Amino acid sequence: MARGLRRQVPALTEDDPRMTLSSPIGIFDSGIGGLSVARAVRERLPGEDILYVADSLHAPYGDKSDAFIRERMHVITDFLLTRGAKAVVVACNTATTSAIAQLRETYSIPIIGVEPGVKPAVLATRSAVVGVLATPRTLQTHSFESLAARFSRNVKLVVQPCPNLVHQIEALDFDSERTRALLEEYVSPLLAEGADTIVLGCTHYNYLARQIAQVAGEAVQIISTEQAVAREVVRRLEMQSLLADTTGQGQSLFCTSGDLTLFRRQLDGLWQPGEPVFAME
Ligand code: DGL
Repeated sequence: MARGLRRQVPALTEDDPRMTLSSPIGIFDSGIGGLSVARAVRERLPGEDILYVADSLHAPYGDKSDAFIRERMHVITDFLLTRGAKAVVVACNTATTSAIAQLRETYSIPIIGVEPGVKPAVLATRSAVVGVLATPRTLQTHSFESLAARFSRNVKLVVQPCPNLVHQIEALDFDSERTRALLEEYVSPLLAEGADTIVLGCTHYNYLARQIAQVAGEAVQIISTEQAVAREVVRRLEMQSLLADTTGQGQSLFCTSGDLTLFRRQLDGLWQPGEPVFAME
């Protein structure tokens, strides 16, 4: 598809009669990491409907090509739009850094992404050394390179790809010896360089924040971005007069391209027990 060409599935805009203020906010990730972002959005916008997609069949994104990730982002955004989404949150650093620009060129609704919190970390560090934990793909993108170049003028940025961590999190394997060993392998080089601030550059890692803090030690600050993303979602919806005009409680709907039983179990642990789940078709 030529860059800038609108897709056959039309984007819903404020002028589109199918989109109402009570249309859902679409949120997606390769799996469950984006639930941490959805949670923050839910807390700030209790009246909004949320439609969450976990692309679990294709997780992790972190070892996939740009082209593959871009294609999945378009497939999922089309899916969200045909279900009336009024905005899309790319709750995945890997997808955002790989291809959010192309997504924004294709669709006209607000598209909000998540990038590693390098800027807040640079403001927070006192040792002038910041560690970044992220997927291999995120760290290879131009978008991350330019983010790093912009904010690391007076700070040393130590980046650490964590290729095996998303598997552990998708398996809800937070406290096993294997996960602990991986965290030690990934965090130690950052500490050895003198990092006093560590960026969680993948939304999945939010679910290991406590374990990462234990390995890193009390003196190290952990920076995550889900609250900043949720604030940005509020700001964008406000700006475009898209906030739901209701005082009621919004619904949350969960879809996956992967195994429904596993997704149900993941939601039991990370969202709330008994949440109905649907196949992304
Ligand atoms: N949660 C994602 C991120 O923020 C994707 C991780 C993956 O699928 O590799 O990068």
